[in-house]
Amino acid sequence: FVSVQLVSRAVQQIWRTPQSICATRGYLHACRSFSSNEVKSAVTPAEITTTPIPEITDAFPHLQTHESIHKFSLEQPDEFWGRLARSRLEWQKEFQVVRDHDMEKSAFRWFPDGQLNVSVNCVDRHARQHPDRVALLWEKDEPGQEERVTYRELQELVCRMGNVLLECGVKRGDRVALYMPVMPLSVAAMLACARIGAIHSVVFAGFSAEALASRVQDAGAETVITADEAVRGGKVIKLKQVVDAAVAKCPTVRQVLVASRTGAQVNMGPKDISLEQVLSSASTECPPAVQNAEDLLFLLYTSGSTGSPKGVAHTTAGYLLYASVTHKHVFDYRDGDIFGCVADIGWITGHSYVVYGPLANGATTLLYESTPTYPDPGRYWETVSRLGLTHFYCAPTALRLLLRYGDDWVLRHDRSSLRVLGCVGEPLNQEAWHWFHGVVGDGRCDLTDTWWQTETGGIMISPRPSAPGAHINAGMPMRPMFGVLPVLCDPSGKVVEGKRVDGALCLGSIWPGISRTIYGDHKRFIDTYFAPFPGHYFSGDGAYRDEEGFYHITGRMDDVINVTGHRLGTAEVEDAMTEHPEVSETAVVGFPHPVKGEAVFAFIVLKEELESSQENIVADLKKLVRSQIAGYAVPDEIMVCPGLPKTRSGKILRRILRKVAAGQPDELGDISTLADPTIVQTIVNIYNTQH
Ligand code: WT7
Repeated sequence: FVSVQLVSRAVQQIWRTPQSICATRGYLHACRSFSSNEVKSAVTPAEITTTPIPEITDAFPHLQTHESIHKFSLEQPDEFWGRLARSRLEWQKEFQVVRDHDMEKSAFRWFPDGQLNVSVNCVDRHARQHPDRVALLWEKDEPGQEERVTYRELQELVCRMGNVLLECGVKRGDRVALYMPVMPLSVAAMLACARIGAIHSVVFAGFSAEALASRVQDAGAETVITADEAVRGGKVIKLKQVVDAAVAKCPTVRQVLVASRTGAQVNMGPKDISLEQVLSSASTECPPAVQNAEDLLFLLYTSGSTGSPKGVAHTTAGYLLYASVTHKHVFDYRDGDIFGCVADIGWITGHSYVVYGPLANGATTLLYESTPTYPDPGRYWETVSRLGLTHFYCAPTALRLLLRYGDDWVLRHDRSSLRVLGCVGEPLNQEAWHWFHGVVGDGRCDLTDTWWQTETGGIMISPRPSAPGAHINAGMPMRPMFGVLPVLCDPSGKVVEGKRVDGALCLGSIWPGISRTIYGDHKRFIDTYFAPFPGHYFSGDGAYRDEEGFYHITGRMDDVINVTGHRLGTAEVEDAMTEHPEVSETAVVGFPHPVKGEAVFAFIVLKEELESSQENIVADLKKLVRSQIAGYAVPDEIMVCPGLPKTRSGKILRRILRKVAAGQPDELGDISTLADPTIVQTIVNIYNTQH
């Protein structure tokens, strides 16, 4: 008892000391110069001073409608983006050249002779103007325990973190891998990399050790930043253990910085450094490195239709400008708003609309650590009400899940603070659209369905509700953003003109946020995005242009599936399963799922001599996928069959398997090209007996 008292008194003392570190309460307090309660009362939304964010209509008074701005942005990109880059970003050296593009080489440079520092743009300039404004509003896993980090505090934390990285020998251009919970220190770590000119590679903390190791290796990262544990939906995830297993396979890793999220005792080996300890002694001043506009800001690994995940590379100035402009104009973000995007920072949505877009705009941005249903299905709306969120940006899969629990979970919470709702990641079906708009938004909030990708850096197609007079149609992203020229192509590569037409969704313009390369493999970048439809960027999606000229997304055209809004290459799942010694062949497809959007269906062929039962093998395969990739990749269905439908040249006809998995065996189409057409009926029979 005595020792508890002593500890708690000591904690209180440290807690009150300005700028001191309180190891037991965690990193967040590292840079606090006053206590959490004081911060709360110091910064209520109503008191936030208003600093106007430069508007496009201020810069270009003759442009009022979205159509006119859009047209101008395509006709005069240098004038349009040049002016926005000057008004929205703080440059260390101003650029003379806006664009330098070489379509032949798929090499795109924006503001190539300019220099700026992303962390200065996201933190310092706002800390100068409004130091006490809340930058990060951390909604922790347990409701009611939110913490606030002001711009001044964030600046101190970023600087301390930057100095820690420098002391660890991290240099400009080095890659730093992050495997972290959604917490302020993770954001500070991203920004600290930017501060010293290092390149971060955030790996979603739900990925397995194997998946983490391959990403760390591909990036050649020598430094990993993680935490003891994560907590999500009341469950503890032992992050450090996963990192230990991953690092054992990564000889390049020199050091692992370990933050404290839960305070759990974790194994600390010779490479491990406790972050709290080093942060406390680090200086709160860290001069920003000069970053060239085209220096890499981050890598983010994403799945493709073939091969291993690719490190999509984004650069500093163009990416930041595009994230900031879209955050402002897609969501009609206004000074004093509290922007709530519930994505994990391990995905591009978290990068662009939790971290970079909002912070570049000096916003207050939510960090949401929990799940949609913890502790109950009203959690999102309880959070909206308690924190007074003005914006709520989420994934359709979460809405489809929540609407099944009924309206009461929504209606019991006050949602009057909300002004704009948004969705991303997969098609927002009509039912979910109307529920989100009518029930959550009371029919009075704008709802924006945003289409974009890891590679595009920011939102490409969305209704853009802030445009005067722009009506919104349910369930489609509708309008291209500034600088974005959607083009539909037919299979022969010809551009499809006119209305009521569909085709491969390509982009005929180059916008500042476009990814510049796949890390270490520019050829793959060209082959994936520019070779299929020369002169255009190919998204991998199909789209329909309707009678009004608005865009609907029809889904992926390649072997990528979308499970709960997460992109997954069917080849990755196949590769994981074929590691099983008793499996001879696999074919993985997606099938429609009422909540997940798509789910994974695996057809497997076993070897002739089996040592284990089929049941055991199926269970092993699920474990294998979980350990090689992540939980969301685990197949919902694994069907053992005697063979797969193949052409005479040995190509698996996935089209047929997709129809079987979707329960549509009557719509198989032409099967005459198969080497053995009877296999199809056998597979259908097995499916029918199991369903
Ligand atoms: C793929 C990109 C961009 C952040 C989240 C996913 C699908 C994305 C929509 C939408 C229909 C959508 C596409 C796209 N997608 N938004 N509004 N309507 N489909 O990023 O992991 O890079 O996945 O998600 O298929 O290609 P990502």
